[in-house]
Amino acid sequence: MEKIKIFADKNLSIGVVEDKVFGSFLEHLGRAVYTGIYEPGHPGADKNGFRSDTAALIKELNVPVIRYPGGNFVSGYNWRDGVGPKNLRPRRLDLAWRTTETNQFGTDEFMKWCGLYGIEPMMAVNLGTGSIAEAQALTEYCNFPAGTQLSDMRIANGAQKPYGVKYWCLGNEMDGPWQMGHLSAEDYAKKALEAAKLMRLTDESIELIACGSSNIDMPTYPDWDRTVLEYLYDDADYISMHQYYYGNGSDADFFASYKRMDDFIRTIKAACDLVRAKRRSSKLMKISFDEWNVWYQKRVKLKDWEEAPEILEDIYSLKDALVFGGLLNTLINNCDRVKMAALAQLVNVIAPIFTAKGGAAIRQTIFYPFKLASLYGRGRALTTINTSPCFDSSYGQAKFLSESVVENRDGSVSVFCVNYSEKPVQAEIELRSFGALKATEHKVLSGSDLDAVNTFAHPDAVKPADIEPAAFKDGVMHVKFPAMSWNMIRLQ
Ligand code: AHR
Repeated sequence: MEKIKIFADKNLSIGVVEDKVFGSFLEHLGRAVYTGIYEPGHPGADKNGFRSDTAALIKELNVPVIRYPGGNFVSGYNWRDGVGPKNLRPRRLDLAWRTTETNQFGTDEFMKWCGLYGIEPMMAVNLGTGSIAEAQALTEYCNFPAGTQLSDMRIANGAQKPYGVKYWCLGNEMDGPWQMGHLSAEDYAKKALEAAKLMRLTDESIELIACGSSNIDMPTYPDWDRTVLEYLYDDADYISMHQYYYGNGSDADFFASYKRMDDFIRTIKAACDLVRAKRRSSKLMKISFDEWNVWYQKRVKLKDWEEAPEILEDIYSLKDALVFGGLLNTLINNCDRVKMAALAQLVNVIAPIFTAKGGAAIRQTIFYPFKLASLYGRGRALTTINTSPCFDSSYGQAKFLSESVVENRDGSVSVFCVNYSEKPVQAEIELRSFGALKATEHKVLSGSDLDAVNTFAHPDAVKPADIEPAAFKDGVMHVKFPAMSWNMIRLQ
């Protein structure tokens, strides 16, 4: 392969990569909450039952915002079941995942947990089986200072100060026939508009996220998005996007996931801008990509109605981490419109963190690209020119080298590159406009076994290695990217 050129100029930027792009998601699903972040009696649990080992790994990921409590779960959830004295909370069937919900963890526990770890909550209201009145009631419970039945109930439950929840999802995946209370685009949009009105009348400072398409293969995509936007353009601050990338087809298609995500975002941007033009609006609709990840959709058949069963516990390989790194590049490169995102999910369920009940918490392979992008991918994303040759996939041609370049707030520069070629590639990275820089770090995630995974017995089998960074001279760096590798280069 010829030498690839990657060029970025300090004065040409795509936009600001918001901190919120590195958000995540915790659903009442499987062992995400129970034995994931909350396990009274665990040797590492605090007095609230919160696992400190899991919390330490979440802290390491530098996650600023977490979406809660679902997901499909939220469309059958009555938030009142999860507040008040624990011994009075009902056990309920969770029809979304065919499990039993004990309600021992609910809104107040989540808010306390977020407060302890400096995380901003992003709540979803139930617009499936739930009413607009209950969406309003939850907003009042969380955000109204005092002096009403609902705000005083929160105070009686131990939270004197309002939670000030800023971000609210108007339901979850309401286009999906699997969703409890699934609606047509028009019916959803009308219900969401009324919920938005009541929620905003309760607290005008909140920001609202309308449900976009559940994935790019939905028969209603992208008309769903256009219709929802036509009703909610003035009232919603974000339209949501969800997409999981499956490793069940050819490798080429799997590696091209980053391109597929890019195509999806372009279409939703176009839908937003079409509606904007029709309404003669000056407002730019933001995107919240609030469910994304690699997912194998393996369903281990367990007994129905178990409490916190081991479901959707994907174990991620090195190959998955490479695909994941490309997806992060796409999110960064679309930061002009993707202003918030949530890695789905955070613990145990399709997640970067994996815990054993009563035992350890470990980092999966995908933990590392997320952590390093979350630490060093915030700032200004730069427009790049990348001369990489392409490979064929069902989604069109995709470059062997996926890249993003970010100027961090402290003036340092991060270059993220994934090499999807089976051979090492030589690249010339030109950053002349930055003047004198010194390459201080080159981290590489690669290895001879693309199926390698981290386990409790070998928790560090896959993790990034530090290699000597190439010299940055006369504005240019000549770098060799190993075959099948994720890379981060830092320059100061
Ligand atoms: O994240 C797992 C599930 O995927 C969520 O509950 C749902 O919103 C999506 O279909």
